[in-house]
Amino acid sequence: MHHFTFQDDKMFCESVPVEKIARTVGTPFYLYSAATLTQHFKAFDDPFSDIPHISCFATKACSNIAILKLFANLGGGADIVSGGELFRALQAGVDPKRIVYSGVGKTESEMEYGLQSGILQFNVESEQELEALQKTAARLKMKAPVSFRINPDVDPKTHAYISTGMAKNKFGIPIDQAEKIYATAQAMANIEITGVSCHIGSQLTKLSPFIEALQKVKLFITRLRQAEIKISHLDLGGGLGIQYDEESPPHPREYAKAIKEELQGMNCTLILEPGRVIVGNAAILVTKVLYTKKGQKKFIIVDAGMNDLVRPSLYDAFHAMKLVNRKELNLEVADVVGPICETGDFLARDKELPVCKSDDLLAVMSAGAYGFTMSSNYNSRPRVAEVLVNGNDFFEIRRRETYEDLIKGESIPDFLV
Ligand code: LLP
Repeated sequence: MHHFTFQDDKMFCESVPVEKIARTVGTPFYLYSAATLTQHFKAFDDPFSDIPHISCFATKACSNIAILKLFANLGGGADIVSGGELFRALQAGVDPKRIVYSGVGKTESEMEYGLQSGILQFNVESEQELEALQKTAARLKMKAPVSFRINPDVDPKTHAYISTGMAKNKFGIPIDQAEKIYATAQAMANIEITGVSCHIGSQLTKLSPFIEALQKVKLFITRLRQAEIKISHLDLGGGLGIQYDEESPPHPREYAKAIKEELQGMNCTLILEPGRVIVGNAAILVTKVLYTKKGQKKFIIVDAGMNDLVRPSLYDAFHAMKLVNRKELNLEVADVVGPICETGDFLARDKELPVCKSDDLLAVMSAGAYGFTMSSNYNSRPRVAEVLVNGNDFFEIRRRETYEDLIKGESIPDFLV
């Protein structure tokens, strides 16, 4: 369910015509619906309300501070993977005690920032990272709360680039080596073990890999407890998929039910790190048709490119497209391409689309997760605006970058002047 609907053949976001926003902020832009974000957060979080848990939104999926604030207001925390994401979460007012820090390559200065901010836990992914964290915490005369990220060797059956829980992936600690690292950590003066974490991949459309991973983690926790290691938190990561096309992922309600069943008697606070399932279908990318041309193929050339939404180019991902400003019954097979000087710059390939003409507005659907956050300035294109609709109102939550923004921080050394 989302709040991008049609009235008299024109697309609305909640109660605001999308065309009206385009006239005000120009194109392209990302457009988020506050009602959809709220509804999706609650749909995910509410089914866990009868057990101790924290839904730590995966900041990397969508990191605008207005959106992080919206989730914080609903009781959400944040899953972060860099000092920059920590800064964003804190600026948005996320409670540090609801922040978990994941990722294989945290630097000592990032660890220091996390420690001084008083975050809930570091999800540590290697022995060397543990040593660096012990050293950093000792220097600050603090204790670092630590969960180790376990790699359970489970195939999440998703795109290879976003599978993270298989033995061949760079993530986590192999489950058969992990007991040793807990024992090492237990003996460290500035480390406090809090739990176990695990994240096996993204855009999962079946429950079985989650359950398989959870069963392995459960057995592992039992072994740790037998060795008298205290485990109070179990972090299951994110990964629940959404519908982009024909997929039919489980509803968050079913996901919660299956997890809660497995968790019975575990006596842990559950941490979840949902990203895509909350924001994916809560935003669109609005782009304008510049030109069309037909040779061997039909091309619709729009003003958004792979720098604005890289998912189709990087993962061959499908995003549905809808005409925003009018109804068009005639369909044709076309490629929707951007202005970037690369053949890989496309938003859709060989798709049946309404016949478009110059100045039409197209909505690239399901663009809320890993859309703006993966955008870049490639081809020196200013990053686009982000707009949030709330009922009848809309707010520019990030202004479009200017040419001046593009060269911010650059300088010409004297020898060139
Ligand atoms: N927790 C950790 C440790 C993660 O690495 C991720 C995603 C998440 C949580 C959130 O996963 P989600 O619930 O959003 O599936 N750029 C790719 C997706 C990369 C996912 C990276 N990690 C895409 O556009 O499909």
